[in-house]
Amino acid sequence: MSNLAVTPEAHNFGARVEGLDLSQKLDANSVSELRDLWLTYQILYFPEQRLNHAELERFTTYFGEHGNDPYVKAVDGHPNVLEIRREAQEEVAPFGASWHSDWSFQAAPPSATILHSKVVPPQGGDTHFADGFRAYDALDPDFAAELEDLIAVHSARRPYSHEGFQRSGGEQRSMTILPSDEAWTTQEHPVIRTHPESGRKALWVNPVYTITIKNMDDKAADELLAKLFSHALSPAFVYVHRWAADMLTMWDNRSVQHCAQGGYDGHLRVMHRTTVAGTAPH
Ligand code: SIN
Repeated sequence: MSNLAVTPEAHNFGARVEGLDLSQKLDANSVSELRDLWLTYQILYFPEQRLNHAELERFTTYFGEHGNDPYVKAVDGHPNVLEIRREAQEEVAPFGASWHSDWSFQAAPPSATILHSKVVPPQGGDTHFADGFRAYDALDPDFAAELEDLIAVHSARRPYSHEGFQRSGGEQRSMTILPSDEAWTTQEHPVIRTHPESGRKALWVNPVYTITIKNMDDKAADELLAKLFSHALSPAFVYVHRWAADMLTMWDNRSVQHCAQGGYDGHLRVMHRTTVAGTAPH
């Protein structure tokens, strides 16, 4: 019998989970239960979890292989852990401060991202999450049917090409970003993605990495994407996540996009992040 206490957020989009020490080895039943909860709520958060890098990596691999995290220098000795850090005096926008689904420019983007908070500012620094399932469900059925046939083009060029890096003030960051010409490559994914485990459909385009629609002229593609972003990111589908130190939060990139918030200038914020490898979107 499980000892987990699960407190869902509104619309069952997100849930607080208590009753497990994630720094310890988990048995197969606990992992299976967490996996079911993650698929049900899309975002799980676990307060008061003190984890070192090795424990965070072990927890990550309960959900699959480590993902491939390009363009950001990893923590020394832990190639699968990124430190998301913003110094108190840093003036550039926070890392991840525009809506995106992690690494959607990859052929097989990560299924999960896991973020563990180390230093949390006294105010600001929330993470916003948008529910792609409910965004899809709310579409007009005829419009949704038209979208089923469309292929989106994704690329890392806006944040991670040399040009994008310069434009976004990358050199002023305390984090080490690794811009590359590789960021100009493109990847095609369906606009409507079917979740490989639940079979639910999600609206799966995001403003950072989705650059156009295949076989559509630029103007029409820009207009359509603007309409889809506005719908997908409307407040009705957004959950605002407040952090506390030592909180572990994991989410499902196959249906969720997220956006880091500012509002904490003058204060340090430090998080550690891993990803779980995913499969090609269909
Ligand atoms: C990210 O995009 O992974 C960062 C999210 C955050 O720092 O809140």
